[in-house]
Amino acid sequence: MPNKRDFLSVDDLSPAELVGLLDEADEIKARPEAFAERIAGRQVLLIFEKPSTRTRVSFEVAVTSMGGHALVLRSDELQLGRGETIGDTGRVLSGYADAIVLRTFGQDRLELLAEAAAVPVVNALSDFSHPCQALADLQSIREQKGTLEGLALAYLGDGNNVAHSLMFAGAKVGMDVRVASPPGYEPSAQVAERSSLIGAETGGRTTVTNVVAEAASGADVLYTDVWASMGQESQSGERAEILAHYRLDGDAVDLAKEDVIVMHCLPAHRDEEIAAEVLDGPHSVVWDQAANRLHTQKALLAWLLG
Ligand code: CP
Ligand code: NVA
Repeated sequence: MPNKRDFLSVDDLSPAELVGLLDEADEIKARPEAFAERIAGRQVLLIFEKPSTRTRVSFEVAVTSMGGHALVLRSDELQLGRGETIGDTGRVLSGYADAIVLRTFGQDRLELLAEAAAVPVVNALSDFSHPCQALADLQSIREQKGTLEGLALAYLGDGNNVAHSLMFAGAKVGMDVRVASPPGYEPSAQVAERSSLIGAETGGRTTVTNVVAEAASGADVLYTDVWASMGQESQSGERAEILAHYRLDGDAVDLAKEDVIVMHCLPAHRDEEIAAEVLDGPHSVVWDQAANRLHTQKALLAWLLG
Protein backbone atom coordinates (compact mmCIF):
# COMPACT_ATOMS: atom_id res chain seq x y z
CA MET A 1 0.00 0.00 0.00
CA PRO A 2 1.93 3.09 -1.16
CA ASN A 3 1.43 6.22 0.96
CA LYS A 4 -0.08 4.27 3.79
CA ARG A 5 -0.68 6.21 6.98
CA ASP A 6 0.05 4.92 10.48
CA PHE A 7 -1.23 6.24 13.81
CA LEU A 8 1.62 5.84 16.27
CA SER A 9 1.31 9.26 17.93
CA VAL A 10 -1.21 12.11 17.96
CA ASP A 11 1.62 14.10 16.39
CA ASP A 12 1.20 11.96 13.23
CA LEU A 13 -1.92 14.04 12.52
CA SER A 14 -2.12 17.65 11.40
CA PRO A 15 -4.51 19.82 13.42
CA ALA A 16 -6.98 19.71 10.51
CA GLU A 17 -6.77 15.90 10.27
CA LEU A 18 -7.33 15.61 14.02
CA VAL A 19 -10.42 17.83 13.98
CA GLY A 20 -11.64 15.99 10.87
CA LEU A 21 -11.47 12.69 12.78
CA LEU A 22 -13.38 14.20 15.71
CA ASP A 23 -16.09 15.48 13.34
CA GLU A 24 -16.33 12.04 11.70
CA ALA A 25 -16.52 10.40 15.14
CA ASP A 26 -19.45 12.67 16.07
CA GLU A 27 -21.18 11.73 12.82
CA ILE A 28 -20.58 8.02 13.44
CA LYS A 29 -21.87 8.32 17.00
CA ALA A 30 -25.04 10.07 15.80
CA ARG A 31 -25.75 7.69 12.89
CA PRO A 32 -23.86 4.41 13.39
CA GLU A 33 -26.12 2.56 10.93
CA ALA A 34 -24.85 4.76 8.08
CA PHE A 35 -21.38 3.29 8.64
CA ALA A 36 -22.39 -0.38 8.93
CA GLU A 37 -20.55 -1.32 5.70
CA ARG A 38 -17.82 1.33 5.89
CA ILE A 39 -14.94 -1.20 6.03
CA ALA A 40 -16.80 -4.22 4.65
CA GLY A 41 -14.57 -7.19 4.03
CA ARG A 42 -11.48 -5.62 5.59
CA GLN A 43 -9.36 -7.63 8.00
CA VAL A 44 -7.98 -5.92 11.10
CA LEU A 45 -5.46 -7.68 13.29
CA LEU A 46 -5.16 -6.65 16.94
CA ILE A 47 -2.11 -7.77 18.93
CA PHE A 48 -1.88 -7.26 22.70
CA GLU A 49 1.38 -7.57 24.65
CA LYS A 50 -0.35 -6.10 27.73
CA PRO A 51 -3.85 -6.50 29.21
CA SER A 52 -6.76 -4.40 27.97
CA THR A 53 -10.49 -4.08 28.49
CA ARG A 54 -11.58 -0.87 26.73
CA THR A 55 -9.11 -0.81 23.84
CA ARG A 56 -9.47 -4.45 22.99
CA VAL A 57 -13.25 -4.59 23.07
CA SER A 58 -13.90 -1.17 21.52
CA PHE A 59 -11.58 -1.93 18.58
CA GLU A 60 -13.12 -5.34 17.99
CA VAL A 61 -16.63 -3.90 18.10
CA ALA A 62 -15.57 -0.93 15.94
CA VAL A 63 -14.29 -3.25 13.22
CA THR A 64 -17.20 -5.69 13.21
CA SER A 65 -19.89 -3.01 13.42
CA MET A 66 -18.49 -1.38 10.27
CA GLY A 67 -18.57 -4.68 8.36
CA GLY A 68 -14.95 -5.69 8.85
CA HIS A 69 -13.43 -8.70 10.53
CA ALA A 70 -11.28 -8.41 13.68
CA LEU A 71 -8.79 -10.99 14.84
CA VAL A 72 -7.55 -10.38 18.39
CA LEU A 73 -4.35 -12.12 19.50
CA ARG A 74 -2.09 -12.04 22.52
CA SER A 75 1.57 -11.91 21.62
CA ASP A 76 2.24 -15.13 23.56
CA GLU A 77 -0.02 -16.90 21.07
CA LEU A 78 2.22 -15.78 18.22
CA GLN A 79 5.81 -16.66 17.36
CA LEU A 80 6.57 -13.16 18.71
CA GLY A 81 6.49 -14.84 22.11
CA ARG A 82 9.29 -17.15 20.94
CA GLY A 83 11.53 -14.44 19.55
CA GLU A 84 10.35 -13.79 15.98
CA THR A 85 11.07 -10.11 15.33
CA ILE A 86 8.33 -7.52 15.22
CA GLY A 87 9.55 -6.54 11.73
CA ASP A 88 9.27 -10.07 10.35
CA THR A 89 5.88 -10.38 12.01
CA GLY A 90 4.74 -7.18 10.30
CA ARG A 91 5.96 -8.27 6.87
CA VAL A 92 4.13 -11.57 7.14
CA LEU A 93 0.90 -10.19 8.59
CA SER A 94 0.70 -7.56 5.85
CA GLY A 95 -0.03 -10.45 3.51
CA TYR A 96 -3.19 -11.35 5.44
CA ALA A 97 -4.52 -8.18 7.04
CA ASP A 98 -5.51 -4.65 5.99
CA ALA A 99 -4.38 -3.00 9.25
CA ILE A 100 -2.49 -3.99 12.39
CA VAL A 101 -3.27 -2.59 15.86
CA LEU A 102 -0.60 -3.19 18.51
CA ARG A 103 -0.43 -2.64 22.28
CA THR A 104 3.16 -3.01 23.42
CA PHE A 105 5.94 -1.72 25.69
CA GLY A 106 8.48 0.35 23.73
CA GLN A 107 7.31 2.90 21.17
CA ASP A 108 10.26 1.63 19.08
CA ARG A 109 8.42 -1.67 18.58
CA LEU A 110 5.55 0.22 16.96
CA GLU A 111 7.96 2.13 14.78
CA LEU A 112 9.70 -1.08 13.67
CA LEU A 113 6.34 -2.68 12.91
CA ALA A 114 5.13 0.34 10.94
CA GLU A 115 8.34 0.41 8.94
CA ALA A 116 8.14 -3.27 8.03
CA ALA A 117 4.39 -3.56 7.49
CA ALA A 118 2.83 -2.65 4.17
CA VAL A 119 -0.47 -1.84 5.91
CA PRO A 120 -1.43 0.88 8.44
CA VAL A 121 -0.26 0.32 12.00
CA VAL A 122 -2.13 1.75 15.00
CA ASN A 123 -0.71 2.33 18.49
CA ALA A 124 -3.11 0.78 21.00
CA LEU A 125 -0.84 2.03 23.86
CA SER A 126 2.88 1.94 24.44
CA ASP A 127 4.93 3.00 27.46
CA PHE A 128 5.37 6.34 25.69
CA SER A 129 1.94 7.19 24.37
CA HIS A 130 -1.74 6.31 24.09
CA PRO A 131 -3.00 8.26 21.08
CA CYS A 132 -6.31 6.40 20.67
CA GLN A 133 -7.21 7.43 24.22
CA ALA A 134 -6.52 11.07 23.38
CA LEU A 135 -8.94 10.95 20.44
CA ALA A 136 -11.76 9.83 22.72
CA ASP A 137 -10.71 12.40 25.31
CA LEU A 138 -11.00 15.27 22.85
CA GLN A 139 -14.35 14.03 21.53
CA SER A 140 -15.62 13.85 25.12
CA ILE A 141 -14.38 17.33 26.05
CA ARG A 142 -15.86 18.89 22.93
CA GLU A 143 -19.18 17.15 23.59
CA GLN A 144 -19.32 18.57 27.10
CA LYS A 145 -17.94 22.04 26.43
CA GLY A 146 -18.93 22.67 22.81
CA THR A 147 -15.37 23.69 21.93
CA LEU A 148 -11.73 22.80 22.56
CA GLU A 149 -9.72 25.90 21.74
CA GLY A 150 -8.70 27.91 24.79
CA LEU A 151 -9.93 25.38 27.36
CA ALA A 152 -7.66 24.70 30.34
CA LEU A 153 -6.97 21.02 31.02
CA ALA A 154 -5.10 20.08 34.20
CA TYR A 155 -3.56 16.62 34.33
CA LEU A 156 -2.54 15.62 37.86
CA GLY A 157 -0.20 12.73 38.63
CA ASP A 158 2.28 10.56 36.78
CA GLY A 159 3.65 12.14 33.57
CA ASN A 160 3.03 8.96 31.62
CA ASN A 161 1.86 7.70 28.22
CA VAL A 162 -1.64 9.12 28.67
CA ALA A 163 -0.24 12.50 29.73
CA HIS A 164 2.03 12.59 26.66
CA SER A 165 -0.81 11.96 24.23
CA LEU A 166 -3.02 14.55 25.95
CA MET A 167 -0.22 17.10 25.70
CA PHE A 168 0.13 16.53 21.95
CA ALA A 169 -3.63 16.45 21.44
CA GLY A 170 -4.30 19.56 23.50
CA ALA A 171 -1.56 21.47 21.69
CA LYS A 172 -2.96 20.49 18.26
CA VAL A 173 -6.37 21.97 19.09
CA GLY A 174 -5.19 25.10 20.90
CA MET A 175 -5.87 24.05 24.49
CA ASP A 176 -4.03 25.20 27.63
CA VAL A 177 -2.62 21.93 29.00
CA ARG A 178 -1.06 22.01 32.47
CA VAL A 179 0.57 18.91 33.91
CA ALA A 180 1.30 18.73 37.65
CA SER A 181 3.62 15.88 38.68
CA PRO A 182 6.10 15.33 41.49
CA PRO A 183 9.79 15.89 40.78
CA GLY A 184 11.13 12.93 38.83
CA TYR A 185 7.68 11.95 37.52
CA GLU A 186 7.17 14.78 35.05
CA PRO A 187 6.28 14.00 31.44
CA SER A 188 9.08 13.77 28.88
CA ALA A 189 10.83 17.10 28.31
CA GLN A 190 10.84 16.40 24.56
CA VAL A 191 7.08 16.01 24.55
CA ALA A 192 6.70 19.29 26.46
CA GLU A 193 9.02 21.03 24.03
CA ARG A 194 7.29 19.64 20.95
CA SER A 195 3.84 20.46 22.38
CA SER A 196 4.94 24.04 23.01
CA LEU A 197 6.13 24.27 19.42
CA ILE A 198 2.80 22.97 18.12
CA GLY A 199 1.04 25.41 20.43
CA ALA A 200 2.95 28.31 18.94
CA GLU A 201 1.05 27.58 15.69
CA THR A 202 -2.37 26.80 17.18
CA GLY A 203 -2.58 29.14 20.18
CA GLY A 204 -2.16 26.18 22.55
CA ARG A 205 -0.09 26.30 25.72
CA THR A 206 1.83 23.59 27.60
CA THR A 207 2.90 23.95 31.23
CA VAL A 208 4.68 21.37 33.40
CA THR A 209 4.75 22.12 37.12
CA ASN A 210 5.27 20.37 40.46
CA VAL A 211 2.46 22.41 42.03
CA VAL A 212 -1.11 21.08 41.84
CA ALA A 213 -2.73 24.49 42.37
CA GLU A 214 -0.80 25.96 39.44
CA ALA A 215 -2.36 23.37 37.16
CA ALA A 216 -5.82 23.00 38.66
CA SER A 217 -6.74 26.66 39.31
CA GLY A 218 -9.53 27.68 36.98
CA ALA A 219 -9.33 24.46 34.98
CA ASP A 220 -12.19 23.42 32.66
CA VAL A 221 -11.05 19.80 32.71
CA LEU A 222 -9.34 17.79 35.46
CA TYR A 223 -7.70 14.55 34.35
CA THR A 224 -5.74 11.81 36.03
CA ASP A 225 -4.44 8.30 35.40
CA VAL A 226 -3.01 5.47 37.50
CA TRP A 227 0.22 6.04 39.42
CA ALA A 228 1.73 2.70 38.41
CA SER A 229 1.22 1.87 34.75
CA MET A 230 1.27 -1.63 33.30
CA GLY A 231 4.78 -3.00 33.83
CA GLN A 232 5.42 -0.76 36.90
CA GLU A 233 3.48 -2.85 39.41
CA SER A 234 6.59 -3.51 41.53
CA GLN A 235 6.93 0.27 42.12
CA SER A 236 3.35 0.82 43.23
CA GLY A 237 4.10 1.27 46.97
CA GLU A 238 6.83 3.84 46.37
CA ARG A 239 4.78 5.65 43.74
CA ALA A 240 1.73 5.80 46.01
CA GLU A 241 3.78 7.71 48.59
CA ILE A 242 5.43 10.08 46.15
CA LEU A 243 2.27 10.84 44.18
CA ALA A 244 -0.12 11.12 47.16
CA HIS A 245 -0.31 14.95 46.95
CA TYR A 246 -1.33 14.74 43.30
CA ARG A 247 -4.59 12.85 43.90
CA LEU A 248 -7.58 14.18 41.99
CA ASP A 249 -9.75 14.89 45.02
CA GLY A 250 -12.34 17.38 46.23
CA ASP A 251 -9.64 20.03 46.86
CA ALA A 252 -8.58 19.88 43.21
CA VAL A 253 -12.22 20.16 42.12
CA ASP A 254 -12.63 23.23 44.38
CA LEU A 255 -9.66 24.91 42.66
CA ALA A 256 -11.13 24.34 39.20
CA LYS A 257 -14.05 26.10 37.49
CA GLU A 258 -17.49 25.42 38.89
CA ASP A 259 -18.51 23.48 35.77
CA VAL A 260 -15.25 21.48 35.58
CA ILE A 261 -15.45 17.99 34.08
CA VAL A 262 -13.42 15.17 35.59
CA MET A 263 -11.79 12.60 33.34
CA HIS A 264 -9.81 9.38 33.75
CA CYS A 265 -8.79 6.99 30.97
CA LEU A 266 -9.62 4.03 33.29
CA PRO A 267 -9.01 1.56 34.82
CA ALA A 268 -9.21 3.68 38.02
CA HIS A 269 -8.11 2.93 41.54
CA ARG A 270 -10.59 4.65 43.82
CA ASP A 271 -8.96 6.66 46.62
CA GLU A 272 -5.52 6.26 45.07
CA GLU A 273 -5.04 8.60 42.09
CA ILE A 274 -8.68 9.74 42.27
CA ALA A 275 -11.05 10.13 45.22
CA ALA A 276 -13.99 7.76 44.94
CA GLU A 277 -16.42 10.64 45.55
CA VAL A 278 -14.92 12.52 42.58
CA LEU A 279 -14.82 9.57 40.19
CA ASP A 280 -18.42 8.75 41.05
CA GLY A 281 -19.49 12.37 41.57
CA PRO A 282 -21.42 14.91 39.48
CA HIS A 283 -18.40 16.33 37.57
CA SER A 284 -17.23 12.95 36.30
CA VAL A 285 -17.68 12.08 32.61
CA VAL A 286 -15.55 8.94 32.69
CA TRP A 287 -18.21 6.52 31.43
CA ASP A 288 -19.07 8.68 28.42
CA GLN A 289 -15.33 9.11 27.88
CA ALA A 290 -14.81 5.34 27.81
CA ALA A 291 -17.79 4.90 25.45
CA ASN A 292 -16.28 7.40 23.01
CA ARG A 293 -13.33 5.07 22.43
CA LEU A 294 -15.66 3.17 20.10
CA HIS A 295 -16.70 6.12 17.94
CA THR A 296 -13.26 7.70 17.61
CA GLN A 297 -11.63 4.38 16.73
CA LYS A 298 -14.30 3.75 14.11
CA ALA A 299 -13.44 7.14 12.59
CA LEU A 300 -9.73 6.34 12.77
CA LEU A 301 -10.08 2.94 11.08
CA ALA A 302 -12.40 4.29 8.39
CA TRP A 303 -9.83 6.98 7.60
CA LEU A 304 -6.78 4.69 7.64
CA LEU A 305 -8.49 2.04 5.52
CA GLY A 306 -9.72 4.61 2.99
N1 CP B 1 -8.07 3.23 28.78
C1 CP B 1 -7.63 2.07 28.27
O1 CP B 1 -6.86 2.03 27.31
O2 CP B 1 -8.14 0.96 28.89
P1 CP B 1 -7.70 -0.55 28.62
O3 CP B 1 -6.32 -0.74 29.19
O4 CP B 1 -8.74 -1.36 29.33
O5 CP B 1 -7.70 -0.81 27.15
N1 NVA C 1 -0.93 4.62 32.02
C1 NVA C 1 -1.75 3.42 32.00
C2 NVA C 1 -2.86 3.57 31.03
C3 NVA C 1 -3.80 2.40 30.98
C4 NVA C 1 -4.87 2.58 29.96
C5 NVA C 1 -0.88 2.24 31.66
O1 NVA C 1 -0.04 2.34 30.77
O2 NVA C 1 -1.02 1.20 32.29
